[in-house]
Amino acid sequence: MVHGETKKPFVNLSSLEYVPWETRNLGMPAFGVAESFLKQPQLVQLEGDLAVLKQELPRFFVQARVSDQDHLEAIGILQKVGFFYVETVFTFVMRLKHHPLLAAFCSDPQSFLPKRYRGRLEAFLLRSSEDPNLAGASELLRGAFSYDRFHRDPHCPERIADQRFGYWLLDLLNDSKARIVTFFLDTKMAGVGILRDAEIVLAAAEKSWQRSGLGSYGFLWLLRMAKESGHREAYGVVSVHNIPMVRLLLRHTPLLYAQTQVTLHYWYLPVQQGESLSS
Ligand SMILES: CC(C)(COP(=O)(O)OP(=O)(O)OC[C@H]1O[C@@H](n2cnc3c(N)ncnc32)[C@H](O)[C@@H]1OP(=O)(O)O)[C@@H](O)C(=O)NCCC(=O)NCCS
Repeated sequence: MVHGETKKPFVNLSSLEYVPWETRNLGMPAFGVAESFLKQPQLVQLEGDLAVLKQELPRFFVQARVSDQDHLEAIGILQKVGFFYVETVFTFVMRLKHHPLLAAFCSDPQSFLPKRYRGRLEAFLLRSSEDPNLAGASELLRGAFSYDRFHRDPHCPERIADQRFGYWLLDLLNDSKARIVTFFLDTKMAGVGILRDAEIVLAAAEKSWQRSGLGSYGFLWLLRMAKESGHREAYGVVSVHNIPMVRLLLRHTPLLYAQTQVTLHYWYLPVQQGESLSS
């Protein structure tokens, strides 16, 4: 919770839910559109909730991730009150047993590395907040992303969009199901991959090493970890605007299944738009 901005836990909202982690990420109260609204969208309810928040808060943010097949009516209502489109994502599911590349990768990972990196790339698990590599991993993630929804949102300053990934890493470090892998090229961190059960949460190469073959290697490494943990499938959520990641996935067919959703954002920044967010 952001101190000084609100004292109430927002229990009376009917179509919105308070989101504490996004509040911390953005430095202002953040909410998500409730599942109950998506199932039975009502303009009056949503307008009522937004009016209550505008009375209580000097600024706030609301996000919605909505199926573009099942929730068209909800999307129309959200746009009517001022939500705007930021991205389309899809959930992919990938079979691990009959994966065309994974068996070969498991028996000889080195052969999947571009020649210039062979013998120089090593992987280590990042296990605790005491780990000396934590700061480097956080730094790498803060600089790696360009196509996520906050980098695409013109109301969000780049600094805040970047810092969300540092916070996310800390959250995942405290998640007993998440495994964080750091990849080192000689002594420099070249990539970070995060697997949570069978979910590929995140795969990132250091900015200057993107599109040079390291991303695919890290991705296969995560698939191997999922397979060795007994999972038959791995899955993840990817933005369709992230062409490097889409290309990587296409190189790792077959996709079993993919379903799309759209993300919409809403900002209430009445005084000096944008300035209040970046301050
Ligand atoms: C998504 C991401 C991990 C993909 O990694 P990548 O480095 O682009 O992908 P690869 O490692 O498969 O590299 C393939 C590219 O390197 C090029 N390449 C050059 N030499 C190569 C080699 N010897 N072997 C393989 N690829 C090589 C390929 O031509 C290919 O480029 P192309 O896609 O333009 O055709 C990376 O772009 C990234 O870190 N992005 C930011 C974080 C992010 O958005 N993550 C995804 C969501 S969590």
